[in-house]
Formats: sequence, structure tokens, C-alpha cells
Amino acid sequence: MSLRLELVDVHAEIEGKEILKGVSLTVEQGRFHALMGPNGSGKTTLSRVIMGDRRYKITKGSILLDGEDITNLPAHERARKGLFLTFQNPVELPGVKLFTLIRSSYLVHHPDDKRSFQEFITYVQSKARLLGMDTSLLSRGVNEGFSGGERKKSEILQMSLIKPRIAIIDEIDSGLDVDALEAVAKSLKDTIYTEPKMGVLLITHYQRILKYLAPDTVHVMMDGRIIKSGDYSLALKIEERGYEWIREAR
Ligand SMILES: Nc1ncnc2c1ncn2[C@@H]1O[C@H](COP(=O)(O)OP(=O)(O)OP(=O)(O)O)[C@@H](O)[C@H]1O
Ligand SMILES: [Mg+2]
Repeated sequence: MSLRLELVDVHAEIEGKEILKGVSLTVEQGRFHALMGPNGSGKTTLSRVIMGDRRYKITKGSILLDGEDITNLPAHERARKGLFLTFQNPVELPGVKLFTLIRSSYLVHHPDDKRSFQEFITYVQSKARLLGMDTSLLSRGVNEGFSGGERKKSEILQMSLIKPRIAIIDEIDSGLDVDALEAVAKSLKDTIYTEPKMGVLLITHYQRILKYLAPDTVHVMMDGRIIKSGDYSLALKIEERGYEWIREAR
């Protein structure tokens, strides 16, 4: 059965400041949603709230997973249920090898996996090569000294291995060179659309990654609300005209 994530009128604040002001959104496995919007409109906040980041307080509304209320569920339990988040600015974890992180997060999502350790290494290396990623990064500290593009690739590598049921992907395209963008988009497409299909909420400022990925729906967030949804042509229009026309047209 396909997993369904549902946000119903979610309001959230941090340090007494309301950032999300009533967000309603449904992401189902097999559906690809893009989320756009000006800087500071609340996109990253939304992704963190979905993943259960304790710094944010949900003051109204609820988050449902297959109808079950997960609004107060801890982050690791959300992950176990099939949710996954990539970060806009991945942190460094010096001393923790990337491979070790990948192995442990993989086992959280797939506790019954029967692959041997050696088979798992081969599997990880093959996915890394598809991304045009230097496999020596796997034995370095997580993101330690990684270039911007290497960090982004390492996030997508983790996602493609874990193959979560629903992923929230925050600005994976920022800072990628043209070849890296294409490699990342191909890997994403391959991961998202092969069975079992994933549900995706992809946060981006640019239509160029969407060109490769053909989202079903494009949403626009402004001032903590989703104020417009449409098809891919909305992303093209935003690239051409910016955001103000949307506000004015309301
Ligand atoms: N700890 C905090 N205290 C006060 N305000 C905060 C805090 N954390 C985030 N904010 C504010 O929340 C708002 C939304 O931030 P968020 O990171 O969600 O925006 P965004 O849409 O992801 O922007 P960008 O496109 O630049 O990534 C911003 O105005 C930010 O300054
Ligand atoms: Mg952001």
C-alpha cells in the first residue's frame, strides 16, 4: 500500500515567532511535488517540522501518516515509518566515516536486510559511481572538508540507498555544476520512479532541476503559507517573472 503524508492547517513557531501560518499539503508515494518560494518564506522550516525537529513548536493543526497522527512522534520513529529528509546545509560529523553513517541509517530503514557486509559495500560503491562520486569519500569523515557539490551528492547517495517511502529534499541543486546537476537529477529520477515509487517534496529555487524530473505539482510558499499550486509551467513563470505577481494576483 502506498504511504500518504498529510499536513492539515499546520502552524509552527520557533522562539515565540510564528513561521508556518497554516500549511495544508498531501504527499503520497508515487507523487512528485516541488516547493518553491522566496528566501525566508518557511520552506526549510516546513521540512524540519515534517521530520519532527523539536526546536519547532506546533501550535495548531496536525501531521498524519496514513491517517495516523504523528504530530508528536519523535524524529527517529518518523524515519522508521519511511520518512527521510536531506539538508540544505548538511553538517560535518568529523570522526564518523560516511560509510558508517550510511550503514547505520540504512539499517534503521531496512532492519531486515539480508545483504552481507561485503555485498553492502559493493552496492554502496555502485550507487556512488552512478552519481559520479569519488568512492574515497566513503572512508572520510561525514562532510569533513567535502566541497559543496560533494555534500549534495553524499545526501543523494544516502537517499538512493535508503529508498525511503517519502522524501523531503531541500535545495539539492544549489551549488552544483551543470554536470553534477544532471548526475544528481538522473540518480533522483532513477530512485524516485522505480518501484516501489517514492513520494517526494523537493524544495528548490530553480526550474532547471525540475526540467529533468517533471513534477506533478508545483507549490509556492510565501509568508508561511502555500499560496498557489499549479503544474510545471508555474515554475517557468516564476523563473521569468519572480514572485510578486502571485501576491498581487491574490
Ligand atoms: N531560531 C529562529 N529564531 C527566529 N527566527 C527564525 C529561527 N529559525 C528560523 N527563523 C526564521 O524563519 C523564517 C523561515 O526560514 P526558513 O529557513 O524556513 O526559510 P526558507 O523558505 O527555507 O528560505 P531559503 O529559501 O532562504 O532557504 C526566516 O525568516 C528565519 O529567519
Ligand atoms: Mg531553506
